[in-house]
Amino acid sequence: MAHIKKLNFLKNHKDLVDENYGMVAVPTFSDKMDKDLAELFKSQNKTGKVGDLVFEIDNNSRIVYYGLGNSSDKTAENFRRAAGEVVGYALQHKYSDIAVECPVSDEGEYFCQAFAEGLILSSYRFLDYFTDERGEYHLKSITMVDACNQDAAKKGAIIASAVCDSRDLGNHPGNVTTPTRLANFAKEVGKKGNMKVTVFDREEFTKMGMGSFAGVAQGTNEPPKFIIMEYFGGKKSEKPVLLVGKGLTFDTGGVSLKPGLNMDQMKFDMCGSAVVFGVMNAIAELQPKMNVVAIVPSTHNMLGGSAYKPGDILTAYNGKTIEVLNTDAEGRLILADALAYASKHYDPEYMLDFATLTGAVVITLGHIATGIMSNNETLVENIKVSSDNTGEHVWQLPLWLSLIHISEPLWDEYCDQVKSEVADVKNLGSPGQAGTIAGGAFLKAFVGKDIPWAHFDVAGTSYHVENRSYIQKNSASGQVIRLVLDMLGA
Ligand code: BES
Ligand code: MG
Ligand code: ZN
Repeated sequence: MAHIKKLNFLKNHKDLVDENYGMVAVPTFSDKMDKDLAELFKSQNKTGKVGDLVFEIDNNSRIVYYGLGNSSDKTAENFRRAAGEVVGYALQHKYSDIAVECPVSDEGEYFCQAFAEGLILSSYRFLDYFTDERGEYHLKSITMVDACNQDAAKKGAIIASAVCDSRDLGNHPGNVTTPTRLANFAKEVGKKGNMKVTVFDREEFTKMGMGSFAGVAQGTNEPPKFIIMEYFGGKKSEKPVLLVGKGLTFDTGGVSLKPGLNMDQMKFDMCGSAVVFGVMNAIAELQPKMNVVAIVPSTHNMLGGSAYKPGDILTAYNGKTIEVLNTDAEGRLILADALAYASKHYDPEYMLDFATLTGAVVITLGHIATGIMSNNETLVENIKVSSDNTGEHVWQLPLWLSLIHISEPLWDEYCDQVKSEVADVKNLGSPGQAGTIAGGAFLKAFVGKDIPWAHFDVAGTSYHVENRSYIQKNSASGQVIRLVLDMLGA
């Protein structure tokens, strides 16, 4: 793993001269440049928008001026992206110690947090398996100069570092990030963060009645795990928020085998669980006063003599029967038991699940936005607010239309599409139609009555995100962790 875990701070710009930095980055707004600087930008065909960098040499240090666009339209996301440009430049030029002047003046502490997030998030590179010089990571420290609010910046660094840890879980291949590895990660986080971690193995969760999860796990020798993390930092009387994540550590498709092209990318099929682990990892550090429970069912989806088959009928934890029509629609099957378990054993204030559930969401929203579906409009509104705050885009797909004060499923048609001829539900919707919503409609059958719930299909956004300076290309992105932490108010 390679990323900067903590920021250093220099209180005063004046102290900069006494220190020795290979590179010093200085912010500039396109409308607030002095004449010489404007000339410098212009000479390189740049204007000072976010993403524009120019440099000059001064006393052995390289001064990099980084653009922030127009001073009248500052956004937290622009600050994150500008920070990403600076650190990207430092990595490219192999600097070891850099100083970055914070551009935040009176915009508020959240902007300072966002800038710090950008610095740490963009320092991440996945280099673990290079044995030659490509594995070298030169950056040793980032010093933030003139941070308007150090506490906010430190919080940003903690959150971003947790995101980087989750990216690592995603980037390691299926022979390293196994269910056992995820369970051990949960235990490490639990130990440092006052959490109770319980792990059920195959025999236990099968006996408990998780026939749907057990069905998927039937075809693999790699031991599957059902992982529970409980954090009760709030009042006993407060209901917990429940977070459920798909921890599919490799998805071959099973007997309904996937095509070979890009199948390697199915190591990312545990990125829903990486969201949940990232949130808990940050909570372990921040110790907020709240109650949060995380549940992750984790297994490979393999094929072989003992694997489950199309046509099989499984019985989930809540007693509902499921006709398996495609073994590649396995994510909803392992989540069914996790959602049913969460609904039965906790009395959640609300429940969120995260899953790389459908290829269809990539067709619908690309690698730009996470598809969300919910049974509760207030919850959706809250998700959208946090989405705006964090720059992590979501787009709601229809599943259930609730009117104010009436929570009736007015759009039953989608749910009808997952009804089976021989069992309660089937794990496919109507052929060629609304594949992402069918996934949500299936999951809804396993969410306890009256529990506000939202499903996040992160198949498009959890890896291969492009054009964000603070997310490495071809890497797990760790997206949505920051959104959830914002929503929780952690
Ligand atoms: N893990 C996949 C979804 C996926 C596809 C994630 C592409 C990222 C990129 C999931 O288990 C799956 O295979 N879904 C099927 C569902 C179908 C059989 C109804 C799909 O999307 O093809
Ligand atoms: Mg699949
Ligand atoms: Zn999958």
